[in-house]
Amino acid sequence: MSQLPQNFMWGGALAANQFEGGYDQDGKGLSVMDVITAGAHGKARRITTHVEPDAYYPNHFGIDFYHQYQEDIALFKELGLKCLRTSIAWTRIFPKGDETTPNEAGLRFYDKIIDTLIENGIEPVITLSHFEMPLHLAHTYGGFRNRKVVDCFARFAEVVFEHYQDKVTYWMTFNEINNQMDVQNPLFLWTNSGVQLKPEDNPEAVLYQTAHNQLIASARAVKIGKQINPNFQIGAMISHIPIYPYSCHPKDVMEAQIANRLRFFFPDVQVRGYYPHYAVKMFEKQGYDIGWQEGDDVLLREGTVDYIGFSYYMSTAVKHHAEDSPENNIMNHTLPNAVNNPYIESSDWGWAIDSIGLRYTLNVLYERYQLPLFIVENGFGAVDQVENNEIHDSYRIDYLKQHIEAAIQAVDEDGVDLLGYTPWGIIDIVSFTTGEMKKRYGLIYVDQDDEGHGSLARLKKDSFYWYREVIQSNGVNLSSH
Ligand code: BG6
Repeated sequence: MSQLPQNFMWGGALAANQFEGGYDQDGKGLSVMDVITAGAHGKARRITTHVEPDAYYPNHFGIDFYHQYQEDIALFKELGLKCLRTSIAWTRIFPKGDETTPNEAGLRFYDKIIDTLIENGIEPVITLSHFEMPLHLAHTYGGFRNRKVVDCFARFAEVVFEHYQDKVTYWMTFNEINNQMDVQNPLFLWTNSGVQLKPEDNPEAVLYQTAHNQLIASARAVKIGKQINPNFQIGAMISHIPIYPYSCHPKDVMEAQIANRLRFFFPDVQVRGYYPHYAVKMFEKQGYDIGWQEGDDVLLREGTVDYIGFSYYMSTAVKHHAEDSPENNIMNHTLPNAVNNPYIESSDWGWAIDSIGLRYTLNVLYERYQLPLFIVENGFGAVDQVENNEIHDSYRIDYLKQHIEAAIQAVDEDGVDLLGYTPWGIIDIVSFTTGEMKKRYGLIYVDQDDEGHGSLARLKKDSFYWYREVIQSNGVNLSSH
């Protein structure tokens, strides 16, 4: 007996900038991601001002889906996907971002993709902005730091909503909108919002000014979308990394409570339509001017989201006045006082593996917001070995299996309203944080290395056959053969 609803949306997730390639095809403009070089494990990616002839930009080529979409979508069909979450690159539709008319060739490209998905029985789930702001908007206006960019985003949203109003139902406004709370990491403010800090800036003040504009942009998009098609389901998209107290010491518990606000700040506004008490207090105490304009309260209230899409990869822990933030914990760059959780193991990239944390997250989000939830990213980035054209990725199957079990428990035992599950990087793509190919999430292998060499051949991993069975049985058959 299946514990999940029959219409559960089993799928896969991708983002235009990480897999499409064709970065300069058919009039596409440069995006903020097109000027980020390859990094490596432990080596940060570099943000350049323009495309440097000698630097390597892995997102330019992606995995060449731009030219191989028919074969790839055929594989998605064979896998049995019911939906595919991807993004529409803003720069294909508005190459510079501040034009008044869209680039028709960009729309034609997505017509082909969306039509081919639908013909193959795969429902498109679309993120409007997945780290793909036009570079021109970042350079000329300072990205979302400038309210003018809200108008540009609203125009982009309107064109895309109008164009796909009969073909797409599920949308998300901004991918992992809360990444940028980590202002210390220049990558996130840049990819989320096209913002680069100046030496004289107070990073936190810039963050909240930027955040306000982006929250207004999200609300405007929701309003516009609902006017075009009231049946649209328009969601927020957050990265959720639950932050546990290291111990039951009340100071650790309080530390975790406050740290978790960093993750909730954006959805608190997107779901409720007003700023949470802790933010209001903080703006007042710090004297931050977020650029509030008359009517913003109405806009935020009228542009609340229908559901919460979220990514879940890991949990973390914090300790009051931790002296030893460990180097191998990915969160130690983000969160003051982050510590390793001694009860769980981490991936080779330092991402803590915690499937119970997914059930916990589903409950926390549902209790806080009482909106349908959608797991739109989850997965295991690992190095794969190819042996005789086969990839025996039992580690990935284990990870996905445990997380799907946790999701089913949240639905079946806790009563959480869960729309679907789309594992990240359903086919191998360029890693966001490192730019590597070798950090692979896919159930379909792509023969390409970190320098862009390889035949681009697609191979089905063991996890491909396993997930196909999971989908066919609606989550009943989770065992691997
Ligand atoms: C999320 C992003 O942060 O995590 C994706 O929405 C990203 O774009 C994914 O690829 C996994 O991160 P990474 O760095 O392992 O690719």
